[in-house]
This record gives sequence, structure tokens and C-alpha cells, in this order.
Amino acid sequence: MKWKKIGKILVLDHNPGDLSKFLNKLDVDTIIKIKKIHGQHREPEIELLHGETTETIHKENGCLYNLDLSKVMWSKGNTNERMRIAKLVSDDEIVLDMFAGIGYFSMPIAIHSNPKKVIAIEINPNSFKYLKKNIILNKVQSKIEPILGDCENVFKGSSGDNYNLNNINLRCGNVFKDLSFDRIIMGYVKTTHHYLNSAIGLLNDGGILHYHETVPDKLINTRPINRIIEIAKGKEVELLNIQNIKKYSPGVSHVVLDVKIS
Ligand SMILES: C[S@@+](CC[C@H](N)C(=O)[O-])C[C@H]1O[C@@H](n2cnc3c(N)ncnc32)[C@H](O)[C@@H]1O
Repeated sequence: MKWKKIGKILVLDHNPGDLSKFLNKLDVDTIIKIKKIHGQHREPEIELLHGETTETIHKENGCLYNLDLSKVMWSKGNTNERMRIAKLVSDDEIVLDMFAGIGYFSMPIAIHSNPKKVIAIEINPNSFKYLKKNIILNKVQSKIEPILGDCENVFKGSSGDNYNLNNINLRCGNVFKDLSFDRIIMGYVKTTHHYLNSAIGLLNDGGILHYHETVPDKLINTRPINRIIEIAKGKEVELLNIQNIKKYSPGVSHVVLDVKIS
């Protein structure tokens, strides 16, 4: 039986029938089983086993995350990675979190480092609602700018103009001369490579990309980096690190490549 405690909610991988041993030992209000995570928005399908509320506040790495586990996902396996990235951010960096969710990466960066700004883009309105709540909960309104939309085209108008730049600049106190970033986090799996072109186009000369991919183990050292090199079209791509996050499925790993692109 696998279990994890998220705030005051216990998440089980199957229904054991008798829940009393959990209820007696753990301080939880609710017990759920996550059946599946659906689609691009990563929406969970759950079975409520005990209690009523599926909303909670989870504390991790000194950050508070308000979330509803019937609406948004939480990946315990990414805990160390969330903190690892926060520690890499230098003072005054402008960071783009392309798949921000409820602030999984943006929150620790804003709390533990000193970026000039983190632009956090999220497509799922439910996740976006909690992203905005978490910015207030962690008092990082001056650091994180949340944007609801598709990271692929949020900065593009129908004519291809960066129509949001003026708005973003106004809200962020004119920190953007043009829309480009010192660091871009691509914290999404399965189809992340579809977004590489947009990400590389938004990266400063010498900027750092954190590219997530679920990859067959025998291809870890080749497929992800080759995808980046191919899309970077002649730019210099320096591989800084390959981080193994977790087993994704038998023979498949979730990895993150840190690359510098000049
Ligand atoms: C749930 S997170 C992945 C887990 C996270 N990296 C962690 O540390 O636990 C991925 C998020 O990307 C969002 N997303 C997917 N496609 C997107 C897109 N094109 N633009 C913006 N957000 C997107 C999903 O809605 C989801 O909230």
C-alpha cells in the first residue's frame, strides 16, 4: 500500500476497506484514492474514502500550498526538484515558469531566492485559482506574476506581436525590455518537447532551460538533449546536468535536463 499525506488529506493508491488504522495514527480530515490523472490540465479523478473536504493547505520546503486534490494534482516525487531549482536562481533573475500549476516551482523560487520576477503561466483555471491564492498566502505578490493561458501563445497576438508585453511590463514595473528570460522551467511531461521552440525563443543569450521529459531509460543520455539541440538550430547548447527525478513507469524515467543556450 502506497500512501502520502498532503496537508490534512491522506492519499492512498487503493481502498483498503478498514481505514481505522490510518484515522487512529494520522492527523487527517479526509482520505482519498486517486484513480487517474486526466489530460493536459492534469485533473485528478478521485474516490472519497473518508471525510468531506478535498481542499487543504500543504507545507513543503517552507512554502504553503493551498489546493483541492479533487481538482489539481500534487506530485510528492518532485519535492527535491522543486527545492533544487529554487537554489539555482541567482539574484535579480527573470524566470519563466511555463507550466506553473499551483506554483509548484514558482513558490520556492520566490521564497528561497531573490528573483526580480517570476512569470507563472497556467492553463487550467482551477490550478490558476490556487496559484493566485498561494501567491497571497506566501506573501510573494511582488515576486510572482500569474498569467492564465497557454504558454505556447500567451505572449503572441494573432499577428504574432507580443501584445501582452505592455500589460506585463506595467504590472511588473517595467522589468521587461523585451520578453526574454534568464531561466525557463518546463515542469511538464509527455509532450514537453512540443513547447521547446517557444521556450528557446524566449530564453536570453546564455539563459538556462530546465527541460522535463519522460524517457525510456536507455535513451536518457540521447533523446532529450538531441531534441533540444535540433530545435536550438545551431545555437550553442551546453548540458549542465541531467537530474533523475523518479521512475515514471517500468523502464521509463522522469528526468530534467539543465541546459545553457547561447
Ligand atoms: C501539474 S504541473 C506538473 C507537476 C509539477 N511540475 C510538480 O512539481 O509537481 C503541470 C501543469 O501544467 C499545466 N499546463 C499544461 N499545458 C499547459 C500549457 N500549454 N500552458 C500552460 N500551462 C499548461 C497543467 O494544467 C498543469 O497544471
